Amino acid sequence: MDFNVMRTGRAVLHVTDLEASRAFYDALGFIETASDDENIYFRAIEDFAHHCLHLKLGDIPAVETISYKVGSEECLDELHTLFVDHDRNVKWMEKGTQVGIGRTLRVEEVSGMTIEFYFEMEHVERMMQKFHLHKGAKVQRIDHFNCAVPDVDKAYDYYIHELGFKCSEFTSIKGSEHIWAAWLHRKPGVHDVAFMNAVGPRLHHIGFWLKDPMSLIDCCDYLAAAGYRDSIERGPGRHGLSNAFFLYLRDPDGHRIELYNGDYYTGDFDNQPIEWDLDDPARQTFWGHEAPDSWFNEASTLLDLNGNVVPVSEPKLAKIKPNTII
Ligand SMILES: [Fe+2]
Repeated sequence: MDFNVMRTGRAVLHVTDLEASRAFYDALGFIETASDDENIYFRAIEDFAHHCLHLKLGDIPAVETISYKVGSEECLDELHTLFVDHDRNVKWMEKGTQVGIGRTLRVEEVSGMTIEFYFEMEHVERMMQKFHLHKGAKVQRIDHFNCAVPDVDKAYDYYIHELGFKCSEFTSIKGSEHIWAAWLHRKPGVHDVAFMNAVGPRLHHIGFWLKDPMSLIDCCDYLAAAGYRDSIERGPGRHGLSNAFFLYLRDPDGHRIELYNGDYYTGDFDNQPIEWDLDDPARQTFWGHEAPDSWFNEASTLLDLNGNVVPVSEPKLAKIKPNTII
């Protein structure tokens, strides 16, 4: 199938201290569209839509859902039929039940993650040329999700063959037919979602696009000066996979944010996936420095459609520190 899924859209994160989260994301340059005592809705500089990040006050740090924008209301109905036919748990969130967004379809997908699809989101002022208000990392837009799953082959097959995603790059193991990690896209960049072999399902990080590599450097200076030195987990550096510049941060609840710039166009129909061998040293940080253990071992807990913690399981493939995943 080829559903009209457009792109990575938004994430709903549970946080335990709303003011601490507000200060952190404000320092990154997110724009607060709306808020109340239990919610903050942030958008990025390019966004004309209401939000790309919904922070919700919760008992524990967790991910309520990650969301994809689709091209029509009819597409939501088509996706609903697909997931019901495949016996997945689904839940409609009708228009008016969530701030700034129309009806959404939430699904416990093939890896057990709660994902969401939506078409309509309220329009607000695009702040792209309000240069006098830009600060911090000047985050431009949301770019991708990276998910730790125990069975990458299963996730790959479902997203490619059922949902119509395309693969831009993947990591394989020499002599094996199994995929260690895969970068899948709907928009013509390297990815909207990546899956990597790890304890899961968990959300490893949310990637946000910056306008240039210097913005990553500026962000490090800004965060260090603003008291967020300990929030910088990895980078800046250049990935081999995706060719992008990266900087990984941890928010006050440990949710991982990637600031990202410089991947490439993948929109041609005959674009071929790039295969990386797990033993290829160039696939990790292109300049050679290794990621910290926390980056491999820690990720955000997910919630199911009823708000319960999603149990995790060990990965199907041997768990090693591959330095391959981004
Ligand atoms: Fe990423």
